[in-house]
Amino acid sequence: MDEEKLSPDSHRVATSDDIEVSTYLEIAKEIAGEQPVAAEAAVSPAEREAIIVIDFGSQYSMLIARRIRECQVYCELVPHDTPWEKIAPLNPRGFILSGGPASVYDEEAPLAPPYIYEGHLPILGICYGMQVLTTQLGGTVAPGTQREYGHAVLYLSDEDSPLFADLPSPSPVWMSHGDRIEDMPPGFRSLAYTENSPVAVMGNDDRIFGLQFHPEVAHTPYGKTILRNFAYRVCRCQGNWTMGNFINESLSKIRNQVGSGRVICALSGGVDSAVVATLVHRAVGDQLTCIFVNNGLLRRDEAQRTLNTFRLNLGMNINYVDATERFLDRLRGITDPEVKRKAIGEEFIRVFEQEAEKIGKVDFLAQGTLYPDVIESTSSVSKVSATIKTHHNVGGLPARMKLQLLEPLRYLFKDEVRQVGHELGLPEEMVRRQPFPGPGLAIRIIGEVTSEKLEILRAADWVLMNEIKKANMYNQLWQSFAVLTDVRSVGVMGDYRTYGYLLAVRAVTSEDAMTADWARLPYDLLARISNRVVNEVPGVNRVVFDITSKPPSTIEWE
Ligand code: XMP
Repeated sequence: MDEEKLSPDSHRVATSDDIEVSTYLEIAKEIAGEQPVAAEAAVSPAEREAIIVIDFGSQYSMLIARRIRECQVYCELVPHDTPWEKIAPLNPRGFILSGGPASVYDEEAPLAPPYIYEGHLPILGICYGMQVLTTQLGGTVAPGTQREYGHAVLYLSDEDSPLFADLPSPSPVWMSHGDRIEDMPPGFRSLAYTENSPVAVMGNDDRIFGLQFHPEVAHTPYGKTILRNFAYRVCRCQGNWTMGNFINESLSKIRNQVGSGRVICALSGGVDSAVVATLVHRAVGDQLTCIFVNNGLLRRDEAQRTLNTFRLNLGMNINYVDATERFLDRLRGITDPEVKRKAIGEEFIRVFEQEAEKIGKVDFLAQGTLYPDVIESTSSVSKVSATIKTHHNVGGLPARMKLQLLEPLRYLFKDEVRQVGHELGLPEEMVRRQPFPGPGLAIRIIGEVTSEKLEILRAADWVLMNEIKKANMYNQLWQSFAVLTDVRSVGVMGDYRTYGYLLAVRAVTSEDAMTADWARLPYDLLARISNRVVNEVPGVNRVVFDITSKPPSTIEWE
């Protein structure tokens, strides 16, 4: 999957650091002109069709929802014990039962809610979901003689099944299961098999299906074809989940919610806040004021560029505050990563509150919460999991400032947010920007943050990004950045001894930042980066490349 992303002929789009400020001004002027909002007619929530994923806790559950949405069908992920009253308003056209870590013959094994069998909507069970179906519909599941994990080859026994349209036979699939179907429920038959699973796919009446493998993962190359067939040929969806429809729906929702109220939004320069601000501005115009806090922890020229783009973008009201000194004072002497993160978060809230007070009465805070955050905060897994890092966001603000939240992106995945940004006419370099953490460069400087170290890191990061972009790799990487360690080592330049900082290069591929793989950057690119950094950045005399994935590492170093 990651190798695909790194293919050299992928299309390259210009990115922020390529672009001179003057170009930004041009872009901003361009988007300040009239933009067609969306060509398509709005779809009311009542007409919008949805496929519901009943979540049994698989690490891939979220991927199922993403794949279905990639087929232009709206999809939501809900815990397995969600009552029907919450599902009905979504206008479900079918259910998918996810995989999960349990075994159906465990005493406490989670099962599907009865309503999914009582209606006449199609059902697709995946892995554990297939075993749940089997058990609840009168079949038998038993422990397999051996675990089946990894690649397998699928042979179709019934090529006419609607699930298999456009599917070659044989085709590779990816398995991860210990239990297997011993007896299918009455009325079911095997539709496909693998060497170790005589019932790799089962179905009845072209309405209820079970897959023993995972169609949602990239290792099942035709998996999306199967999911698309389920959505269109089995559930009879029309495919009305488009970002144009989403924008139209959101604009009227935001107008209804806000009325004549006033909205503030924290702008960071990142894609999420940019899209939120543009959407809200389009809905309620000057009732929105954006606050852009420069914490002094941004990359080279970033604050000026963001400011220029947004001030001119549709004439948005932006209150800019340069709080560099405040943040540096606050960070003095702090070396512990969590203390650093908390200090930055608190300082941000203080500055933001002060700025908001100047605006007068405000009713709403618009923020770029995304669907993965929503899922994480409702899933039982996250409630018991340990805090790895305290993410800096504006979450503490509404309670303190008595603001209502406006979260127009709360049901979108990151790639959908990018599409919305694209449809709204935001510059591609902003829409395609790699994620940048709220605490900024502070969590990429190991140890105390000082203005001297910030300058070193900015210079190194500039070189690194320049080389990554020249190599056409920027858009193929989830993130690429430099980390200034607090290790110093001896070197030699000319005839002189040097004693300089060790700089680490981090580059990862990822779908959602929950897991990430280190990117296999070409050696000659790494050589150019190392050479230029050591020559062009005073204070650095050694460069290393981080070759750890997440887990066990995290993407950022702090
Ligand atoms: P980790 O380091 O936890 O990062 O693997 C996962 C993703 O989150 C970004 N990140 C943050 N984003 N505020 C943010 O807005 C934060 O405090 C923060 N910390 C990490 C990180 O860059 C990566 O994309």
